[in-house]
Amino acid sequence: MQKKNNAVNAEITAVGMFIPEKILDNKYFESLVDTNDEWIRTRTGIIERRMYEGGGTSDMAYFAAKDLIEKYNVDPKDIDAIIVATVTPDMFFPATACLVQEKLGATNAWGFDLSAACSGFLFALQTGSSLIESGRYKKVLVIGADKMSSIVDYTDRNTCILFGDAASAVLLEPTENKNFGVIDSVLRIDGSGKDALNMKAGGSLNPSSHETVDNRMHYIFQDGKAVFKVAVKGMADISVEIMNRNNLKSEDIAYLVPHQANLRIIDATAQRMGITKDKVTINIDKYGNTTAATIPLCLTEYYRDGKIKRGDKLVLSAFGAGYTWGAIYLVWSL
Ligand code: COA
Repeated sequence: MQKKNNAVNAEITAVGMFIPEKILDNKYFESLVDTNDEWIRTRTGIIERRMYEGGGTSDMAYFAAKDLIEKYNVDPKDIDAIIVATVTPDMFFPATACLVQEKLGATNAWGFDLSAACSGFLFALQTGSSLIESGRYKKVLVIGADKMSSIVDYTDRNTCILFGDAASAVLLEPTENKNFGVIDSVLRIDGSGKDALNMKAGGSLNPSSHETVDNRMHYIFQDGKAVFKVAVKGMADISVEIMNRNNLKSEDIAYLVPHQANLRIIDATAQRMGITKDKVTINIDKYGNTTAATIPLCLTEYYRDGKIKRGDKLVLSAFGAGYTWGAIYLVWSL
């Protein structure tokens, strides 16, 4: 893959987030399935997660975008494009991006949904950056939003404890200062992982029917052990690859901002990169795996807490269903 040859970089100029109020702690799951707080904490790092009951993913995405727009005085009419990374769209069509566009009153925007599961935000961030780098678009809203509770099987202990609902948004704008913004990315897909992590029905292969409902095919299926093995290697390898491509040493990196699927996968990635725990953003303990929202949520919360600062070199890294995976080297400019 070639390095970029662009006149401008895309930088993040605003952030926003939405966290539902309802908390599901580990104890709650003890009443649903054969599990316990100790197992969940030690095997995943999750203590609690959130559940949204007020509407669909587009509502959470809208609230995250509204937070961004209000805090940074963005005029929705200035937004050129909206990309929503999600695997839990309100409907198959229209795209969640259209629903968010209407709620925001972003009357001059086009947009689309992007389906890359837990790598969704990274894929959307690279796509949005390419729109900015093309010179044709000045303000691109990139949202990671997932209402995982809508596809979680609360009778399956292997998966129900893992996921939570949330949304987070970033605004991309051009900068001529090539030392800031999205510097580089390495993104990959491998469809041979399709059987290990999926939702089998509701699409064109297995349209919804009584049978698909009876067979619980509209829920997340995961072969946890199989995914764990490839995720550990995939996330670590690609994070080291982005470091090597950009001559980054571990001491150059202010934060590794990893997807939050399992604390053990995060720890293994950090270890391979030579990064200490205090330089890894974590929110899996509070929110579980919020799929496309984990990384922008980490960025937003760590920035708002004063931990991520202007000029910080960040490596964003994710692995998810598909398989999809990747890493982005970003220099923070807020
Ligand atoms: N509570 C208690 N026991 C549980 C459990 C739960 N919630 N879920 C599974 N178990 C049991 C299993 O049934 C198994 O029991 P067995 O040995 O009697 O069969 C045992 O715990 C170990 O299961 P295993 O699947 O090996 O656990 P694990 O250590 O791999 O952890 C995951 C399970 C799902 C946490 C882990 O595999 C994982 O994080 N996978 C990757 C997730 C990921 O990255 N996804 C991609 C992005 S979404």
